[in-house]
Amino acid sequence: ALIEKGNYRHFMAKEIAEQPDVVGHTLAHHLDMAKGRARIPEGIDFKKLDRIAFSACGTAYYAGLVARYWFEKLARIPVDIDIASEFRYREPPLKPGGLAILISQSGETADTLATLRHCKEQGMQIASVVNVTSSTIARESDAILPTLGGPEIGVASTKAFTCQLATLAALAVAAGKARGVLSDDDEQRLVASLVELPRLMAETLKLEPQIERIAKDLAKAQDALYLGRGTSFPIAMEGALKLKEISYIHAEGYAAGELKHGPIALVDEKMPVVVLAPYDTLFEKTVSNMQEVAARGGKVLLVTDPDGAKEAAGEFETLIVPKSYAFVTPMIYAIPMQLLAYHTAVFMGTDVDQPRNLAKSVTVE
Ligand code: G6P
Repeated sequence: ALIEKGNYRHFMAKEIAEQPDVVGHTLAHHLDMAKGRARIPEGIDFKKLDRIAFSACGTAYYAGLVARYWFEKLARIPVDIDIASEFRYREPPLKPGGLAILISQSGETADTLATLRHCKEQGMQIASVVNVTSSTIARESDAILPTLGGPEIGVASTKAFTCQLATLAALAVAAGKARGVLSDDDEQRLVASLVELPRLMAETLKLEPQIERIAKDLAKAQDALYLGRGTSFPIAMEGALKLKEISYIHAEGYAAGELKHGPIALVDEKMPVVVLAPYDTLFEKTVSNMQEVAARGGKVLLVTDPDGAKEAAGEFETLIVPKSYAFVTPMIYAIPMQLLAYHTAVFMGTDVDQPRNLAKSVTVE
């Protein structure tokens, strides 16, 4: 079927806007919403596993980085994660019967496929989180965990990313339950926070006019820094990746605590610093990193929830996203990252859907 942009100027804008719907479909597939349970995929016995190896490229790799926090915390299972183009060269000792999870929108990325085949040769079980279920990676997997994002046309991934996160979040809950780490109540509470997520994502999309105004300034920058702690750290990296992919502004995502070990040397009045800081146990520490930036004249954009905004008391330019359970913040904070990159690129007049030098699916190693 022909896929059209409808009333949107770019596929990327359409795909960003679709997220509450497609994340909802994806969650409905992986959760039993009526019972408040996460479904356990057939053929995966989480109780028997002593670790999981994740691998992916680009944006999908950042989804894996977020998943590591979830699997280690909720299922107490150690997670290894590598960029697919590096996995084999590290020569990790792999255990036959161990589980490898590959994440890929297209299911055709050459490095990810090569990793899959390598893990298979070592006798590992293969599960894949894929958007295209007829893809090579899907076909060569023992278990397929589909994301129900629908076709993604924009080269820079958006809805596929939040659907990957939704799938991995549900899987982490299933793993935690299967391993006896989560009680029935814990499971119900986490599932409830996922059920509520599409509504919060729709709420977050309403920030678009404010983000558009901020993007006008960001478009004048040469470099930008993105900071976060915990699961907001991979989202900061994803924010930086989105900005460089489509606006060609140099950007780096950093763990907020690493700022003082290098990147702070770059901070001056011209440097925008986007800080992702939900009001949680890490908030105070991130705010103190932010003050270090402000003291050097850096232009801070704080992305936080109403409680965080109150605490920061108007000290910084602030984007206020809805309050949510800590578990689901990555899917919410991803949205302002996408919109910020999108509107910056639109101001700069770049080819948003087909950025120079990039391909939607990279089939060479
Ligand atoms: C390309 C795309 C990225 C994507 C990456 C991985 O670089 O431009 O948006 O994240 O490939 O693609 P995959 O299909 O494996 O998720």
